[in-house]
Amino acid sequence: MQTVYRSCNLPRVLITGATGQIGSALCATAPADFELHQVARNCVAEQPFLHAIDLSGPAEVQQLLRGVQPQIIINAAAWTDVDGAQRQVAAAHALNAELPGWLAAYAESRQVLLLHYSTDYVFAGDQPRAYQETDHTDPGSTYGHGKLAGEQAILERTAAALILRTSWVYGGPTRNFVASIAEKLIAGETLKVVDDQYGCPTWSRDVATCSWAAIQQLWPVQDGLNTGLYHLAGADQGSWYDFACRIEQELGQLDMLPYDPNLASRVAPCGTAEYPRPAPRPMYSMLNSNRFYQHFNCRPAGWPALRQCLRSLYATPPDQQRC
Ligand SMILES: NC(=O)c1ccc[n+]([C@@H]2O[C@H](COP(=O)([O-])OP(=O)(O)OC[C@H]3O[C@@H](n4cnc5c(N)ncnc54)[C@H](OP(=O)(O)O)[C@@H]3O)[C@@H](O)[C@H]2O)c1
Repeated sequence: MQTVYRSCNLPRVLITGATGQIGSALCATAPADFELHQVARNCVAEQPFLHAIDLSGPAEVQQLLRGVQPQIIINAAAWTDVDGAQRQVAAAHALNAELPGWLAAYAESRQVLLLHYSTDYVFAGDQPRAYQETDHTDPGSTYGHGKLAGEQAILERTAAALILRTSWVYGGPTRNFVASIAEKLIAGETLKVVDDQYGCPTWSRDVATCSWAAIQQLWPVQDGLNTGLYHLAGADQGSWYDFACRIEQELGQLDMLPYDPNLASRVAPCGTAEYPRPAPRPMYSMLNSNRFYQHFNCRPAGWPALRQCLRSLYATPPDQQRC
């Protein structure tokens, strides 16, 4: 028998990928006037609105949707292992290309608002300027191809969807650039970091806050809303090396680095060619987020967000850390 989950009359929001960087930030920043249903692959505890489901099969997804009957779906689940996607093509495709289509078909049939995340990796990244939503896409990796197919599957099936392309996301419980660079620097390691790939680092918390701002404008679904494709990325840009240097600077100000009078910096630049990876990365994947700002009056910060994230990690007691 189908289980139906309900508590009260608040609009029901289903958040997939609730354990990920963006998903956990969405759960942490959710406005009180929504009933949250979180989907996580491996739940440790039985909680009323926590659903333990592998989203790579259509039957499981249908059963989940029938049970929750969400009015808003936020799809923050994805196959995000970019190199792994080159090898596990079918598994990555199910999550990144097919799941968005299944969710969009449901959204269209029930007047449900769908918010989905995509990526800067849909672009070739061969020109040194920020991409607009109207720019030509040309992904270089299996991950990028899958994410682009996911966008197209949504746009073909429903008009009640907001697709937010974000980039270089950090923050949250899963492994990310800020956490791993900070860990190494605090341990006193010296690092070489790529200086010829450029992007816009984006704090997961800012993505979540802007997502809720958009949802509050778009819900309930009506014709003529500002749905469609938007870029949503941090306001500053730099290379991975610049990003690592900023992390080092901030940690220095927080007095988190071991002192070495002979070392000006533990971070040194290197080229992409020095660290070949299975999946090619765009060299320039900066995103212009003006359109989102014009429509929803919210924008992720640049380097100040990094400061806030690191301060919330290292300048607050462990039980109050929120990054
Ligand atoms: N991270 C970035 O730099 C970046 C950049 C641009 C765009 N994006 C996009 O932003 C979105 C969120 O990314 P993120 O950084 O928050 O990702 P993340 O931290 O890797 O989280 C991905 C989430 O998806 C879930 N998931 C993966 N496979 C699943 C499956 N088969 N069934 C159910 N759940 C599954 C994971 O659950 P488990 O905990 O069980 O694995 C996790 O909760 C994605 O669409 C991604 O493409 C990310």
